[in-house]
Amino acid sequence: MNYLELLNKRYACKAMNGQKVPEEKINRILEAIQLAPTSSGLQPFEIFVVTNGDVKKEIRKIAWNQSQITDCSHLLIFAAWDTYTEDRINHIFDLTNKIRGVKNKGWENYRQQLLAKYPKQDNETNFQHASKQTYIALMSAMTQAINENVDCTPMEGFDSNKLDEILNLKEKGLRSTLLLPLGYRDVNNDWLVSLKKVRKPMSELVSTVE
Ligand SMILES: Cc1cc2nc3c(=O)[nH]c(=O)nc-3n(C[C@H](O)[C@H](O)[C@H](O)COP(=O)(O)O)c2cc1C
Repeated sequence: MNYLELLNKRYACKAMNGQKVPEEKINRILEAIQLAPTSSGLQPFEIFVVTNGDVKKEIRKIAWNQSQITDCSHLLIFAAWDTYTEDRINHIFDLTNKIRGVKNKGWENYRQQLLAKYPKQDNETNFQHASKQTYIALMSAMTQAINENVDCTPMEGFDSNKLDEILNLKEKGLRSTLLLPLGYRDVNNDWLVSLKKVRKPMSELVSTVE
């Protein structure tokens, strides 16, 4: 399947059947998240993979009682850095130098540029910036999932403060942004499964400036 065919095939699954997704598929979906581009390559987020049934039940209660949370196989939680710190920025730049085996002047200047800017901004501004990066990774995960014939549901419908408490995210310097249940559609109970995909026409989406 080509990329556009995958995008057409994916849909926001509304009911899942509890079937387990093989670990190798989950690992490739996680790899798609790892490979997603991020601003300055900082990857300012972490992913939590929940398979524990009790924890899923607890999360469902604070997520609009959405059934996919307990009926999925693996529940991914995207959690963004609560702010940018010098340590966090330096860690990624040091990692880059280590992996590439070179120290580049331009790259080091860019490090100083970020160090002079991000840690001085307020935490909320930094969190909002980091949180945007999780949405790019979400799309990467969803497209790999459908490539693996795995269904998923992107979710913002949850109380992030309560989820942060359940997973002790505050102590880790993280804040939850998105949920992504991964599993298999329950064809008999999924009201969306056979409905047409709806998108506004290109004429409302795209303007050209020639
Ligand atoms: C950031 C984001 C948050 C969403 N939150 C939810 C959600 O909490 N529950 C849900 O059932 N669908 C949720 N959706 C699914 C959208 O409603 C769905 O993607 C949209 O209607 C387009 O349909 P499609 O994904 O089937 O093409 C979310 C989608 C995105 C991108």
